[in-house]
Amino acid sequence: MWGGRFQKAEERSALDFNASVSYDCRMYKEDIAGSLAHASMLADHGIISKEDLEKITGGLLKIKKEIDEGRFAFSVELEDVHMNVEKRLTDDIGDAGARLHTARSRNDQCAADLHMYMRRHIAKLAEKLIAAEEALIGVSEKYKDVILPGYTHMQRAQPVLFAHHMMAYCAMLQRDFERLTGCYEIAEACALAGTTYPTMPKETAEKLHFSKCYGNSLDAVSDRDYLLQFLSFASICMMHLSRLSEELILWSTGEFGFIELDDGYSTGSSIMPQKKNPDICELVRGKTGRVYGHLVALLTVMKGLPLAYDKDMQEDKEGVFDTIDTLRFALDIYAGMLSTMTVNGARTRAVLENDFSNATDMADYLAKKGLPFRRAHTVVGNAVAYCIENRKVLLALTMEEFKKMSPLF
Ligand code: ARG
Repeated sequence: MWGGRFQKAEERSALDFNASVSYDCRMYKEDIAGSLAHASMLADHGIISKEDLEKITGGLLKIKKEIDEGRFAFSVELEDVHMNVEKRLTDDIGDAGARLHTARSRNDQCAADLHMYMRRHIAKLAEKLIAAEEALIGVSEKYKDVILPGYTHMQRAQPVLFAHHMMAYCAMLQRDFERLTGCYEIAEACALAGTTYPTMPKETAEKLHFSKCYGNSLDAVSDRDYLLQFLSFASICMMHLSRLSEELILWSTGEFGFIELDDGYSTGSSIMPQKKNPDICELVRGKTGRVYGHLVALLTVMKGLPLAYDKDMQEDKEGVFDTIDTLRFALDIYAGMLSTMTVNGARTRAVLENDFSNATDMADYLAKKGLPFRRAHTVVGNAVAYCIENRKVLLALTMEEFKKMSPLF
């Protein structure tokens, strides 16, 4: 692979350890698109001939078709997707293929391919986020009259609309959407290294539909900020889904009984026949840890690296790919699970009829009648203590009892 400099082949173990093709083959479409644009820019500036460009274009499209159809055999000996495609192109078309690598390095390919790959997947994830938001809106509309206790410190606080509760998550996902589309802009930048050839990075960028270009070539090949920003977005988004998971798990318990997840999104127990488990929610909560891990891993990989490319940076991909998969799955499943769950409005109402969630409203009532709120708070606090002692709820007090607490009633 490395031409004349080497006297013997790489040790098998070193070769296996060094290779990234098992996962970077995911970027083959981007690698080929990048090479097509690069070759076309080289030909535009007379760096390669028109005939070479034609051969390269034909050869690359043939390789792409083979990979699309699962007929291409990637080889670990060739380390990564970039070398696999290029070697095969040169085997097929000879010297024209060997000219493709003029004025670029694999580090440029890594950077450009990854930018394009992220752009493609950010767009897909944005759609999934919208679908999850729509599911939250849908279930809010479906159960728009349901009220349930709102909690602080996990203690019943005040009644809220179920829809209000769900729409809080929708607001979180909308902020995630904005963070994600912010990443899209960052991923829109094309990388090419400095070279003595009269290359035009801006033109290659345009051919690949990038709106911006790096101003500094060292920065271009060694920047992974856009991945870190994506992983930060993903970590926050998973945190939101994890909080929602926690509530759905609690609400599905016999103790709460507020919701029931659809059978299609639940699992059973191999020993206890009565059980219906919220595994999906638990897994989303659990996988949040793994996405955080990918963010911390890449931050740690990058923190001591001198300019420009260092092989450490090959470690950027697996965590990012896994994050894309995890988030795509989680958002997809949540859209389905939220639209199919049932909310037990009778149960949530019954809970509210037997507690003190309306205490604040009672204090507000007195305050509106002119009693300073702090004093109203004390009157109602006393009323609650009285009710606890006499085993009743506030609405069960008689007018006589109310009047005794405050003549304003
Ligand atoms: N497979 C490598 C990666 O994914 C490419 C390495 C390119 N550069 C190099 N000088 N070894 O990062």
